[in-house]
Amino acid sequence: VFIPPPSLSAKFEGSFAYLTVRDRLPTILTRVIDTIHRNKNNFFEKHGQVGVEAEKRAISFLSKLRNELQTDKPVLPLTESGDDTEAWNQYLQRQQDLMEDGQQVSWFKSPWLYVECYMYRRIQEALWLSPPICDFDAFKEAKTHSFFESQQAIISLCTYLREILSTTDATNKKWLLEHFLRFLQVSLWGNRCDLSISAGLENSQKTSPMDSLSDLQHFVLVDDSEKVWSALTSGRGPGGTEETGVRVDVVLDNAGFELVADLVLADFMVSVGLAKEVRFHGKSIPWFVSDVGERDFDWTVSQTAASNHKHVSSCGVQWKRHVKDGAWSYHDHRFWTLPHEFCDMPADAADLYATLQGSDLILFKGDLNYRRLTGDRTWEHTVPFERALGGFLPAPLCSVRTLKANVQVGLEPGQAEKLASKDAEWMTSGKYAVIQFCGPVQQ
Ligand code: F6P
Ligand code: MG
Repeated sequence: VFIPPPSLSAKFEGSFAYLTVRDRLPTILTRVIDTIHRNKNNFFEKHGQVGVEAEKRAISFLSKLRNELQTDKPVLPLTESGDDTEAWNQYLQRQQDLMEDGQQVSWFKSPWLYVECYMYRRIQEALWLSPPICDFDAFKEAKTHSFFESQQAIISLCTYLREILSTTDATNKKWLLEHFLRFLQVSLWGNRCDLSISAGLENSQKTSPMDSLSDLQHFVLVDDSEKVWSALTSGRGPGGTEETGVRVDVVLDNAGFELVADLVLADFMVSVGLAKEVRFHGKSIPWFVSDVGERDFDWTVSQTAASNHKHVSSCGVQWKRHVKDGAWSYHDHRFWTLPHEFCDMPADAADLYATLQGSDLILFKGDLNYRRLTGDRTWEHTVPFERALGGFLPAPLCSVRTLKANVQVGLEPGQAEKLASKDAEWMTSGKYAVIQFCGPVQQ
């Protein structure tokens, strides 16, 4: 039997995983505590004394959590009864069974992917155990701020989309391909703007993204966009019918500029008839600081529609229309905020796997999705993407990701060594990217 390589973990001292658990995660927790405290007056106190007590309670849970992390305490089972609690506690047991020499699952000894996801779930637990402030999103402010800080880039992207759609020549394949590739790349580079890698500090898109695409092309280490194009245009409609226009699923990553870039790509695909339907998948709890939840999705669409810039608002109005007429839909599933590798999905979230099987193309945005696709393991860089997926292939899929963790597969022999000799941080700086496809088109 094939045994996959070990998971990335903070137990490898000095590794990016180690530095993240040691430095980045406690910083994020401190910011959450500060945010809750800062909102004491305008949010919690409106609930009167119970609100004030709840604020104190949440902060004490979070301080305890930060202390457990920093002193490498055992990972504790969840206590409140959410609909995912059992899945989390079972996963803890699974991790315990993998530990050697009777060691306990702990922050610095266990897989990085697991403990990092667990931290976000514990933040949620602290709030759920502190009614009436349960639905407070401690990352909302940072997400909103990053959206507004990217205004110029959003204006130029929306303007570009409206202008090219007004001159559209949807029968001209070359024109369609050229613009599709451009929007795919903007969506790709939008992934640099996440707020987890920056430990919650501002990280927005300042310049017009359209101007720098050709300079950035050099940093795309694997570019399977032509295969993505084939999956979109191979003439197969949902369920293998001959209908034109396919169903695309976008597993979203970050709010702010990245989400706008994803919506622009989806708008283009639907408006020119490349896709008949786009399903967006988001998170059901606040996650990795900037990930998109339903409230972020709705807020972004409404905010865009209400813009006083004519092209931005006409994008937003169009997006509302796509949602209203069903061309676009938003979905969440608790699996997206569990710590499992995606190859566990058929066993642990069979319903979601079955839903994804109805897709013609699944775009997985961002770094965390790549980590979950590949199991966040110490793969050799030349291992084929398909092998690292461990059998996960509900439909043709593509990872659209800037590199922010030490996992990268599917490279040419020598490619990784060459990169490492030039830039020791090539896998974690977000400077490099991949558009990496796997699907029947390849075989
Ligand atoms: O904490 C850092 C980090 O977790 C990355 O290493 C991680 O994968 C990333 O943040 C989140 O990136 P993205 O938003 O692209 O999934
Ligand atoms: Mg993210």
